[in-house]
Amino acid sequence: MNILLLGSGGREHALAWKIRQSSHTERLFIAPGNAGTAREGVNVSIAATDFPGLKQFVLQEAIDMVVVGPEEPLVKGIYDFFKNDPELNTVPVIGPSQAGAQLEGSKDFAKAFMQRHAIPTAAYMSVTKAGLARGIAFLQSLEPPYVLKADGLAAGKGVLIIRELDEAIRELERMLNGSFGKAGETVVIEEFLSGVECSVFVITDGESYKILPEAKDYKRIGDGDTGPNTGGMGAVSPVSFADETFMRKVEERIIVPTIEGLKKEQIDYKGFIFFGLMNVDGEPWVIEYNCRMGDPETEVVMMRIQSDFTALLHGIAEKNLAGKTIVFDPRYAATVVLVSGGYPGDYEKGKTIDGLDETSGSLLFHAGTAAKDGKTVTNGGRVIAVSSYGNNKDEALKQSYRNAEIVRFEGCRYRKDIGFDLE
Ligand code: AMP
Ligand code: GLY
Repeated sequence: MNILLLGSGGREHALAWKIRQSSHTERLFIAPGNAGTAREGVNVSIAATDFPGLKQFVLQEAIDMVVVGPEEPLVKGIYDFFKNDPELNTVPVIGPSQAGAQLEGSKDFAKAFMQRHAIPTAAYMSVTKAGLARGIAFLQSLEPPYVLKADGLAAGKGVLIIRELDEAIRELERMLNGSFGKAGETVVIEEFLSGVECSVFVITDGESYKILPEAKDYKRIGDGDTGPNTGGMGAVSPVSFADETFMRKVEERIIVPTIEGLKKEQIDYKGFIFFGLMNVDGEPWVIEYNCRMGDPETEVVMMRIQSDFTALLHGIAEKNLAGKTIVFDPRYAATVVLVSGGYPGDYEKGKTIDGLDETSGSLLFHAGTAAKDGKTVTNGGRVIAVSSYGNNKDEALKQSYRNAEIVRFEGCRYRKDIGFDLE
């Protein structure tokens, strides 16, 4: 098969690495990709949201399947664009329809969906500007801290967790007055859930599903989970508390009702579902859905799938996923993300990355990198995900940290305590 993968982060490098290994993969293109994906296939400089540009490329190169990495093209309706175009409707897109992508694109939609299908999630109220008084009353009924979420996509910055009631009320007013632009025209006010998070992923063909290895990511910039949120500073798989008992609860209470709910509501969904979960005293609750894989979780999840991934993706496209098997690698996988100085605030790009060829025993998944004058340079906040196997969590982490020290660029920093809260 000729495959076109959309996106340009560490997630896409890991997907490309895995897809490349399959004997079913003939040619692999990545649009737009990064310096790492260029080693797995051919980068094409078309934006993941340039639908007409992608159409032309798909026809020109006889692409058999399009795999979508990031949420933006999905929320903008790339699945429907292909389905409704007579020249493209035989080319499967791995990713949900625009209606399905609302699970991520609208937090209000996701909460109402969970409520309709009795899926455990924090109590909430959605308000617009006209409902400010109701929103304030709801805040007053909750215990601190208070959780405010902009309804729409806000590049991971749309969630505020606030200790004081007065400040939460002020922030709610600010959001409804446009501090998050259109994304915050509706605000979801939520009860705070206290526990440990983990990420569970499934692939579905709309009928059946397969659970992928679970992972835990570390979102805060600083050691000990301190400082501002980032896209993710590291990840570990498996997750010690996600044992058989916990995962059975996740499957029965969350995964099955989600798949059945999508079916009942006739929402076309063929792709990835990312369940952002909170383990509250052994019980799983849904914090959020995403309509794509996580980053950097994908780096460790792909490492732990032994099965042919292209065959699984083909199973999604052909709606025969039920007939496929998925085998996990029993080893641990851990990734440590090297980031640009200043990230998640302002940072400079174009710094030369040295030491990439001096590492050994780790996979270096590129995130924000580009090739320039024969060198690899930084091109984003998250730069390289140093990823390793081990017979246990500590072995995998030790190997990643050993190689993290070898890769160098001006301003480089990384967290030293990935996996600190797991057994
Ligand atoms: P999200 O953008 O939905 O992933 O939210 C960002 C982060 O906010 C999550 O990863 C959680 O750490 C935290 N969060 C979101 N909702 C809640 C909640 N109801 N209770 C506690 N923490 C939350
Ligand atoms: N690592 C979290 C995410 O991809 O949203």
